Amino acid sequence: MDCLICHDTTGTYSKKKNSCGMPNKDLDLTDIAKQVGLPGRGNCGECHWYGGGGDNAKHGDLGSDLLTPDASLDVHMGKLDFTCQKCHVTDAHKIAGSSTTSSVSEGRVSCTDCHDENPHDSSFPLLRKLNEHGMAMACQTCHIPQYAVNKFTLTYRDGSRISDKTEVVSQSPDKRELKTPMGQKILEKNLKPSYAWYNGKHHRYMKGDPVDPKGITPLNAPDGTIKDPSAKITPYKIIKTRQAIDARHGYLIVPHLAGKDGLISTHDWQVTAEKGMKAAGLKFSGEIAFADTMMYWRLNHGVVPKEKALSCLDCHGPEGVMDFKVLGYKGDPMATGWRFAPDK
Ligand code: HEC
Ligand code: HEC
Ligand code: HEC
Ligand code: HEC
Ligand code: HEC
Ligand code: HEC
Repeated sequence: MDCLICHDTTGTYSKKKNSCGMPNKDLDLTDIAKQVGLPGRGNCGECHWYGGGGDNAKHGDLGSDLLTPDASLDVHMGKLDFTCQKCHVTDAHKIAGSSTTSSVSEGRVSCTDCHDENPHDSSFPLLRKLNEHGMAMACQTCHIPQYAVNKFTLTYRDGSRISDKTEVVSQSPDKRELKTPMGQKILEKNLKPSYAWYNGKHHRYMKGDPVDPKGITPLNAPDGTIKDPSAKITPYKIIKTRQAIDARHGYLIVPHLAGKDGLISTHDWQVTAEKGMKAAGLKFSGEIAFADTMMYWRLNHGVVPKEKALSCLDCHGPEGVMDFKVLGYKGDPMATGWRFAPDK
């Protein structure tokens, strides 16, 4: 990456598409270079807010509303005005923080880098109970109860239904369905997380791995189960996608995607599959089918003010946010007990 993307403070530094990364010609680079400074949220956001085809589309917890957020959206970046690197501590340009999807990592970031493991005042019985819950759940689980509050995020894409143009199919305040050259898409707003056990690692679907042609194949499921003492219940955004598979070999097709002869321009699965599979070194039978896959995105941003954190009844009440059975409990653990006996 070039330096000015992260160090420009004027907000004017820019590039054109298909310019091989060169800056726009009409910029006064000398003037911009005279005003460099440490990165603000907008510098990091220039890339991280717009992945997946739009503002907030990919992660759901990283959108341009973090430029000047209300405290109610994010206490750290709103009320406390944290930069990204306040948490993503950077040393000689190694930016700490592990992603859910890429295998590169330049160090981990965790809530307990700054907060105590037992942050709630143990002299009060109810607050002590919150600390005890920390054995089984991540801080984010209670402190990030919502995502995509202001901005739509992508939750479904169907690659079998590709259109020439982008067109709105249906629209309501919290849901939009679109036809696009990248497939039929659903975008949603005001979402509640899904919960899963996570022990710090995710599995990976690798090129050529089998897919379940009738069910849903997870591409990066979190590792960990209720029986794993190092796993904690963690909040996720889940995106489902319908993708092309080789009907005979039973694995995902790698299409030739970009450029004039790529799938995005031609919308021709057959030709672009042949080309892409050859480059990927995978056998291609010529028979294309479609299968459902899902991808997990961990939620780490959007810590709400403490009054809005999930409390006892949000989970143990009749409208509880967690499906305890799906997580592996016999029922509500308030009645059935901790996953491990307290003396273990
Ligand atoms: C991906 C974003 C990014 C890019 C690209 C980047 N920097 Fe940085 N830079 C940072 C961050 C983050 C810090 C640390 C800021 C902090 O700790 O507050 C930093 C710090 C610095 C510092 C301050 C002192 C130091 O050594 O830590 C200098 C000087 C610097 N960068 C120069 C450069 C130059 C020159 C380039 C291009 C070769 C560059 N940066 C590219 C993000 C970036
Ligand atoms: C020019 C685009 C760009 C900018 C600006 C940028 N990033 Fe990134 N960042 C990326 C890409 C691309 C990846 C994925 C790297 C990969 O998959 O190997 C990434 C990955 C990350 C990760 C995940 C860890 C990893 O290595 O995959 C973190 C955390 C991160 N960036 C934080 C920041 C912060 C903080 C800033 C601002 C100081 C910043 N980024 C600026 C493009 C950018
Ligand atoms: C209050 C602390 C905090 C702030 C502020 C913060 N982050 Fe993060 N971020 C985290 C934590 C914690 C993780 C999880 C990292 C890990 O597991 O190592 C994370 C993860 C990420 C990831 C990886 C996402 C994924 O799951 O693939 C990216 C990218 C990222 N942050 C970018 C940013 C950007 C850009 C900003 C500023 C707009 C920012 N963060 C501000 C705490 C923070
Ligand atoms: C089971 C849910 C739950 C878990 C898990 C949880 N918290 Fe909390 N947290 C809360 C609630 C509810 C409050 C508000 C308590 C109150 O009314 O004072 C709170 C309050 C806080 C406060 C403000 C404390 C104060 O005295 O002002 C901080 C800081 C905090 N939590 C950080 C964390 C961190 C860090 C973790 C992980 C180590 C964590 N929490 C795990 C539910 C939880
Ligand atoms: C870089 C340090 C840092 C990191 C990392 C960090 N926090 Fe904080 N956090 C603070 C500071 C400083 C405050 C303000 C003082 C306080 O309340 O402790 C704060 C405040 C809070 C509060 C109280 C908010 C209120 O309403 O007053 C909560 C809750 C909280 N943090 C939770 C988290 C969670 C959850 C994470 C991980 C996703 C996290 N923090 C990561 C530094 C951090
Ligand atoms: C985010 C959801 C969530 C919140 C908020 C929450 N709980 Fe729980 N609670 C759980 C889960 C999950 C377990 C099981 C933990 C384990 O397996 O270790 C549990 C276990 C329990 C248990 C069983 C422990 C035992 O003694 O056998 C009790 C009691 C309980 N919670 C009470 C509370 C109270 C009181 C509060 C508020 C102070 C609260 N919970 C807040 C999800 C939650």
